[in-house]
Order: sequence, then C-alpha cells, then structure tokens
Amino acid sequence: MKKIQNVNFDKTKESVVILDQSLLPNKTVYLSLSSLPEMFDAIYTLKVRGAPAIGIFTAFGIAVLMKKHKNEDIDSFKDNFRKYKEKLFSARPTAVNLGWALSRMESVIEKNGTLSTSELSELLFDEAKAIQDEDIRMCESISALGLSLLKDGDGIITHCNAGPLATSLYGTGLGPILLGKEKGYEFKVFCDETRPLFQGARITAYELTNAGVDCTLICDNMASFVMKEGKINACLVGCDRVAANGDTANKIGTSGLAILAAHYGIPFYVLGPSSTVDFSCKSGDDIVVELRKEEEIKTKFFCSPIAKDDVKCLNPSFDVTDSRLITAIITEKGICRYPYTESLKILKG
Ligand code: MRU
Repeated sequence: MKKIQNVNFDKTKESVVILDQSLLPNKTVYLSLSSLPEMFDAIYTLKVRGAPAIGIFTAFGIAVLMKKHKNEDIDSFKDNFRKYKEKLFSARPTAVNLGWALSRMESVIEKNGTLSTSELSELLFDEAKAIQDEDIRMCESISALGLSLLKDGDGIITHCNAGPLATSLYGTGLGPILLGKEKGYEFKVFCDETRPLFQGARITAYELTNAGVDCTLICDNMASFVMKEGKINACLVGCDRVAANGDTANKIGTSGLAILAAHYGIPFYVLGPSSTVDFSCKSGDDIVVELRKEEEIKTKFFCSPIAKDDVKCLNPSFDVTDSRLITAIITEKGICRYPYTESLKILKG
C-alpha cells in the first residue's frame, strides 16, 4: 500500500504539513503549521486526528518548534520544550499517544545531555521520523494479525475511523480490511457514521471506497439492524487508551456497539499499537474522557440548528468498553484475550 502523507515536514523543516481531516471528504487541503497556537488548534479541532496520527503530529510539531531554540543555552532549551509539551498535551486528554510521543521526545533531550542544543534539535527531528516509521511497521503487523481472524466474504462493522489517515499506513481497525483487499479478500463493510463528528461517514467510508472495498454507510443506530440480519461476522475498532485490565477508551458509541455484538454473539476486536496500553490506568475508571463543545451536536454539520439554543447537551468524545465485551485486543506484538490483566503483560518491555 502506498503511504498517505497525512503528516510530514516541509522541505526546510520549519513547519509540519498535514492533510486537514476536518474538511474531508469534500475538500483536500494541506496545511503548513509552524506555531504553537496553530498546532494546538489542529489537534483540538481534529484537523489531525486518530490516536497514532496525533502522536506522530505532536512529535513532528515539537521538533519544528524547538528548531527556533537551537542556539539557546540548554536550560532555556529545556524550559521551552516543557512549555510546548504542556500546552500540546492539554489539547486532547484521552488518546494516550499524545503524551507518549511527547515523553519519548523529551527523553531524547534527557539522554543526550552532553550534546549542544543544535545537535539536540537535529535528534528531535530524527526521533519524530523514527516514531512515524515505527508506526508504519506496527500497522503492517497489526493488519496481518487482524486478518488472520477473518475470512474471505466476511461482513464487518467499523466505528469512527482507524484507517490510514489516523495512522501511517493501513491503519489499525481498518488495517485487516485494507491488507485483505490487497490479498484478494472481498469483505462487506458497514461503516457507522459516528456522530457527532461523522469520522465514519467522512473518513472511513472515503478511505474504503477509494481502496475499492465494498462499503455501506449506516447511521449509528442501525448497527443492531444489520447485526440481527446476519450481515456482520466481526466488529473492528481502534483504541485511544487501553487500561491494564483491557477496558478500552475509543470514540463515543464504541461501547454500545460492543454491547450489541455480545448480544448477537459477534466477535468484537480492538486493534491498536502496544503504546496505546496505559499500564498506569488499572481500569477504565482511571481514564479521563474528553468533553467537547455542544455546537458539535447541535449546529456543526447542519444548515440550521437541530435543537433550540437553550437545550443542554452533553458531548463526551469517547466511552470506555468493558474488557469482558472485547473478544481480543490486537497489537503489533500479538493477539491478547480475556483476562487482559494477564494477557496484556506480554506487551511490557
Ligand atoms: O476523536 P478522534 O477522531 O480522534 O477519535 C478517533 C478514534 O476513536 C479512533 O478509533 C482511535 O483514535 C484509533 S485511530 C487508529
């Protein structure tokens, strides 16, 4: 599969170039971002989105920001790094990859304390590229492991978007479908539209149809209908943070889909890089769920508001799926099954 350039440096390494996912599928616009406010806004407004892509973007972004400080003394270089880290980290709290990538970039500075700030700046660029390259390899192995659980002709349901634009190559949740397509499998995929920001309709359906996959868009409340009709053999979703016991935070609506899947006896697979497992969270109760603005529910995608101004809204961006509802968690290191407190231990180290 050809790599989609969703996140890259410009030639001078003075900005990060992203494909603006918030405008898809109607417009393909690339943005060149070089300041902290622009980068914060890109993450917050989902111009760049999907847990792994957010991590990669943040690594690229902080490398670009730190280039401006490459002639400073080490103390102010470190102070500026911390300032950027704190601000970028606050953009979206649930996806673990954001903090993970920032900590990994920080450890480059910590481990190479004897180098000049200009050398450190170069190392930050190398590390950001390494994070992206590793994500490509992770997508490849997650896709192959996921595909081993499916068979030709299967009906699959997806939620939100965990495809190439959310990662670096095949994606995680969509990885087995796209790899399978390359190998000649013919899946029938049903994409949940994924309210309120419609990542399923705008991005998953776009990526799958572009790849020639048989894909049908449904509203979120139609999942039970297609399951009951026997059209679904497996559910494939990505993840934003997995607790040590396997409880999994992913786009709002994922846990409802898992509950339906259990009711109909359909396997429910979560796919993501091992770095998404956060062993510091014992269970889903420790995962902070991002709350977003009510305009996303009432006005954002509509010609006129769908509810009156004074109607209260609750807009949690993610929910946590109980680990007992998850048939397997598939990472690049292997396929883990319940009880996850035991099986996820293979990911440590
Ligand atoms: O709010 P988003 O669009 O960033 O949410 C994305 C998801 O929930 C994805 O499933 C998850 O980040 C995994 S992406 C490979």
